[in-house]
Amino acid sequence: MAETKRTATLSFDGKNFELPMLSPTVGPDVIDIRKLYAEADVFTYDPGFTSTASCESTITFIDGDKGELLYRGYPIEQLAENSHFLEVCYLLLNGSLPTAEQMENFEGRITRHTMVHEQMHYFFRGFRRDSHPMATMVGVVGAMSAFYHDSLDINDPWQREVAAMRMIAKLPTIAAMAYKYSIGQPFVYPRNNLDYASNFLHMCFSVPAEDYTVSPVLAKAMDRIMMLHADHEQNASTSTVRLAGSSGANPFACVAAGIACLWGPAHGGANQACLEMLREIGTVDRIPEYIAKAKDKNDPFRLMGFGHRVYKNFDPRAKVMKESADEVLDLLGIHDNETLKVAKELERIALEDEYFVSKKLYPNVDFYSGIILEAMGFPTAMFTPIFALSRTVGWISQWKEMIGDPALKIGRPRQLYIGETARDYVPVVNR
Ligand code: ACO
Repeated sequence: MAETKRTATLSFDGKNFELPMLSPTVGPDVIDIRKLYAEADVFTYDPGFTSTASCESTITFIDGDKGELLYRGYPIEQLAENSHFLEVCYLLLNGSLPTAEQMENFEGRITRHTMVHEQMHYFFRGFRRDSHPMATMVGVVGAMSAFYHDSLDINDPWQREVAAMRMIAKLPTIAAMAYKYSIGQPFVYPRNNLDYASNFLHMCFSVPAEDYTVSPVLAKAMDRIMMLHADHEQNASTSTVRLAGSSGANPFACVAAGIACLWGPAHGGANQACLEMLREIGTVDRIPEYIAKAKDKNDPFRLMGFGHRVYKNFDPRAKVMKESADEVLDLLGIHDNETLKVAKELERIALEDEYFVSKKLYPNVDFYSGIILEAMGFPTAMFTPIFALSRTVGWISQWKEMIGDPALKIGRPRQLYIGETARDYVPVVNR
């Protein structure tokens, strides 16, 4: 529990209420309003939770003004440079970096869970071929609770652990299957002699008729995309997973809820929406038209891949991602592609334009990840599934933290009701 240092006083109607203040290890202090309704008979109003801490957590810290992102205290830039996705998974789940032995053991456990229940293959066939892979993933991940009955008891720490391993191991397999199904190719089984990122690329791009060798540069870029997306404190999808889990729902159902939330274009769906926007703009000469649309208050259009609820300086993930984008494009010899030209010019203009500068709207991680994924050969519909499989470890770590908290309560916000007051029912003949 965070330390209580001082109190805040709330005054209204001639009465004062003392509210405890909690101090985090880093970040702004928090006013504890848990007893406010019981003592003062008022609610607080905060749609979008812009000023509300919904839980205590030890996993991820973001300083939006400094553009800082820490996983268990380690800066994302250091992890991106020195670590790899499975080590980051261990860190997020367990709180500390693994020893060599712990890492070997963890990797071995994940590797042994990469295949999905064979009957799940038939489950896929119920979807239309042209289903969006996110739609398939929401369904298939939710359906894991129908296949893995021995890891549904959330009160058993061993079952929680197995569910976590299963999801981290199987999400790439499920995402790759959703892709293969959508293009009418046979499913490719996981290869456990490949590392996590290479295995995913192999399941997506190899076909039984040919040999396929994974490029180490592409595997490194994939691994980096996964690391950078692994967790992001209490964002919309993570809060969805926590809220679903607070009722005692099983972890597969909770992660399926997270995937559904992530799909929205204001969240994980932005990487797909961003690339589609770049293609729609098409040529550099049309950029001013779109900048004008983004600034027009009467036009709902927004520049996708720009802005962030928390980062008001820069998105540290975007910096690292930009480096990877350059590496991947160099490797693939892509220099004068029209979409890339539009992206570079849009980035340049938006970083100088008064509207974007004054509102602190910087390119976010989705701006660059879409460019890399397209260069790798992924269709836009796969961008958000890749985000989902990368974020699974974050969702599971946050869910585990919540379930292990003895103070866990079902999440149940209140409201500011502005509807009708009580009125009598009117029979239809009198309406
Ligand atoms: N293009 C143009 N204007 C924008 C944009 C944008 N991308 N983002 C915000 N603004 C403007 C808003 O119109 C608003 O202007 P106003 O103050 O004149 O009304 C102001 O900036 C603040 O915007 P809010 O919507 O209040 O900011 P919020 O924190 O709620 O939204 C969000 C953050 C959803 C990310 C928003 O910036 C957005 O829609 N961006 C595009 C979608 C996107 O890229 N999402 C990915 C986020 S990162 C991730 O999920 C991994």
